[in-house]
Amino acid sequence: MASNRNCPEIRENGEEESTELRRLFKGLENCPGFVRVGPAGYLFSVAFEPEIKSIYNMEVRATDIYVATFPRSGTTWTQEMVWLLLNDLDYAKAASLNLVDRYINVGISIWGLASRAKGAKILKFKEEDKRKYKQIITPGCELLAAASDPRFIKTHLPMCMLPPNLIETAKIVYVARDPRDVVVSLYHFYRLMPVPQFTGDFKTFWNMFVRDNVIRTPYFAHIKEAWELRNHPNMLFLFYEELKNDLSNTIKRTAKFFNKEYTDEQISVLCNHLNINNFRHNDSVSLNFLADVFIPGEEPFIRKGKVGGWRDYFDDEMTVECEQWMAKKLKETGIQFPVFSN
Ligand code: A3P
Repeated sequence: MASNRNCPEIRENGEEESTELRRLFKGLENCPGFVRVGPAGYLFSVAFEPEIKSIYNMEVRATDIYVATFPRSGTTWTQEMVWLLLNDLDYAKAASLNLVDRYINVGISIWGLASRAKGAKILKFKEEDKRKYKQIITPGCELLAAASDPRFIKTHLPMCMLPPNLIETAKIVYVARDPRDVVVSLYHFYRLMPVPQFTGDFKTFWNMFVRDNVIRTPYFAHIKEAWELRNHPNMLFLFYEELKNDLSNTIKRTAKFFNKEYTDEQISVLCNHLNINNFRHNDSVSLNFLADVFIPGEEPFIRKGKVGGWRDYFDDEMTVECEQWMAKKLKETGIQFPVFSN
């Protein structure tokens, strides 16, 4: 284990929990271990451990732009919005550069881990693929050090794993989403990816998620860390549901956060560009270039894009359990999800 100096504390995951992970995630079956990071105990593969300290101690620049989320909360959607707002709505450039080349992913890259994890069941990247997937195989820290300003950075790491001077130095857009829709979306995503490649049913996934035994959980602690900074001038805290309910106004708020001004007509064009029906056909954001490594027959990376889709997945027992879990966590954390009538 890495020294805990200058990075959040790291401890081993419980043996039973690790056994459950290896049993239900095919891509983790040979994973040598799992760690819990920080006081909340965020769960990661041990293969990520060497990067934790480098990330915590990496350089932050005043011109950096972060989009941070718990996975499946609308990261990709927000990344495209933010990038376009900050690049004079240059749709041609956005189309010509894949989002993975426009943003550096700081934190665990599942593909990176898959290619580096010692002893783990890994994806064997061919030399030509290593070049093709360079941006997603190379640790974000390494890419960042060589990147020119302004650096667009995507991360699924919680605030406590990022450099402590981040909030005072750079701008962060954080997006939160109803955990019920997150867990459904994450279930599909973890089935789609060869690592971790979940093989159980939804109820099993839900049970692991609510017990914080899914990679990157706990969910509420992640949101809480950003929520507590929501009034900081460098933090724009958004909800996926706000983007869905009123994209135009959310774009205006985001533009204002970055001191950008656009006409109503320009915003209307951007809304159309970001609409899920167009977005899912947008090759520069859809990760279609990874089609040959995704697990066949699973739902795509850009999936339904709906609010409330969880209702098709939760039975009565899960619904009650989830209501109790959410009520408890919302009370503990003070997080308030927006309520819309439609
Ligand atoms: P679903 O699986 O519920 O459809 P992330 O980018 O953080 O991985 O989030 C993925 C989720 O955002 C998926 O949710 C995906 O379909 C949804 N999404 C992606 N683009 C979207 C868009 N333009 N509008 C609405 N939802 C979108």
